[in-house]
Amino acid sequence: MTTILSGLEKKDAKELAKDLNHLLANFQVYYQNLRGLHWNIKGKSFFELHLKFEELYTDAQEKIDLIAERILTLQGMPLHTFEDYVKISKVPVGSNISKDTDAVKLVVKSLSELLKIERELLNVSDKADDEGTNSMMSDFISEQEKILWMMNAWLG
Ligand SMILES: [Fe+2]
Repeated sequence: MTTILSGLEKKDAKELAKDLNHLLANFQVYYQNLRGLHWNIKGKSFFELHLKFEELYTDAQEKIDLIAERILTLQGMPLHTFEDYVKISKVPVGSNISKDTDAVKLVVKSLSELLKIERELLNVSDKADDEGTNSMMSDFISEQEKILWMMNAWLG
C-alpha cells in the first residue's frame, strides 16, 4: 500500500483531491454569483440583501481557501482558472440578476448543488478514513443547511 505523508492511501488521496477540486470549482462560481448579486441587487430589499450577500461571499471566500489548502494537504493541485471552474461547475452562472426573489432563488439553487457535492465527498472521505476532509465537510454541511433554510424562509 502506497501512502502520502499523512498516512492516507495514495489512491484515496488522489480521488479526494479530485472531488475537492469539483467542490472548489462550484464554490468559485457560487462566490462570483454572490458578488454579482451584491452589486446588482435593486428594490426595497436592497439594504438587507446587499449586506447579506456580502456576508455570504465573505464566508464562501474563507471556505474556498480551506478547500484549496485541503487539496494541497492531500498532495493535489487546486484548480485556479475561471476556465476550469465554469467547465466543471454544476452551480449555474447567474448574470444580470437584480430582482430580489431571483437573487435569493439563485442562492438556494447554488447551495443545494454544493450540499449534494459535499455529501458525496463525505461518503468518499469516510471510506478513506480521511478525518480532515470529513470534519470539514460536516462543518460546511451544517452551516449551509442553516443558510438554505433561512434563504428558503425568506422566499416564503
Ligand atoms: Fe461592496
